[in-house]
Amino acid sequence: MSVPSLQVAAPEPSRESGPATTSQPPEGAASAEFLRFFGDDDPANPAHTELVAIARRLAPRTGTTQNAPVPARTGKPLPLRNPLGPPMSPETIVARVGTLASLPNIYFQVDKAINHPTSSTARIGTILSYDQALCARLLRIANSAFYGFARRVEGIEDAVRIIGTRQLHDLVLATVVLSQFKGIDSHLVGMKSFWRHSLACSIAARSIARQRRETNVERFFVAGLLHDIGSLAMYQLLPERSQLALERHRESDKPLDETERAVFGCDHAAVGAALMTSWTLPPFYRDSTANHHSSGSRGHTPATAIVHLADLLVQTLDLGSNGEQRLSRISPDVLERVGLQPGTLDAVADEVLSLLGEIQNLFLGDDKTGSEYWVSSARIPRGSSPPGCEPDRGRR
Ligand SMILES: [Fe+2]
Ligand SMILES: [Fe+2]
Repeated sequence: MSVPSLQVAAPEPSRESGPATTSQPPEGAASAEFLRFFGDDDPANPAHTELVAIARRLAPRTGTTQNAPVPARTGKPLPLRNPLGPPMSPETIVARVGTLASLPNIYFQVDKAINHPTSSTARIGTILSYDQALCARLLRIANSAFYGFARRVEGIEDAVRIIGTRQLHDLVLATVVLSQFKGIDSHLVGMKSFWRHSLACSIAARSIARQRRETNVERFFVAGLLHDIGSLAMYQLLPERSQLALERHRESDKPLDETERAVFGCDHAAVGAALMTSWTLPPFYRDSTANHHSSGSRGHTPATAIVHLADLLVQTLDLGSNGEQRLSRISPDVLERVGLQPGTLDAVADEVLSLLGEIQNLFLGDDKTGSEYWVSSARIPRGSSPPGCEPDRGRR
């Protein structure tokens, strides 16, 4: 996705300068791009006004290419029927993706142990210690600014104790999800860009949830990470249809989810929700994924509105993409649903920009292409003793 360059007419951007007070697009060459990105379907929405102001203040700082070419509008109508085959249900797509998108066994082992009535820190630590790569990564995250604990976390059992079992479960889920969906055609989406967008949304969702004093804010981090994962299932299983949907999206003013519904018969939000169901994840993840593009009159719950708003903010900041080229439709009452004071989104945007680099390093490692991630696929052999698992001091 390319957020329009704003530097043509906007003043020198500065984090200290505070949000702009107008939602008017800049004058000059950038204005057409600006209008195209933000659309004009609901300029009276206060969320739209805040996002426009944030883009004016911060988007040029996120590496937006100045004077990026605007794709020509061809005016082609969307196909009424899918030219590449019959409509498919989200469940059919997920069933056909099958084991390619299955979570590693260790996640289910940890999930089972945490939910067991006699669960213990030692037992959970033992299960985790069978996957040393996962352990090392969890410890690096536990010892990072992401958590900001006052003391060093010295081992995996210590991590279970200090982070808490529920939060650790969510952290394990976040880290194992990143090992899935290899082999996506980079012509469709760059994996680095996809995960950058997802992780930025994770930080934003967690930050907004904290502002709202939600319980277990880590689940919002995972919800942000998962919200677009249906795109990967579609890109992996049906690359030709995906390419058609992306082309239609680029060539028209239609949002990506709308072109997907025309080409596939369903959109990435619905496919992602079906994936959550197949993974037997808690309903919260299914609902936040299913509704992250919902903008109709049905409205959001406060929890799903948080992920919707986080996604909009990250699109505005031009931090990676799942293939979307312009701002998604904004729910008319999203700020009201989330219950944020005007201007709060500015602080969230600053937190995203300040944490994203470190979070990317922690979750994606040193991989430069974003296409190869460590794989956590350890299976726990019966009767064997766990290997040791020490903190990864060398990486700090
Ligand atoms: Fe999306
Ligand atoms: Fe997104």
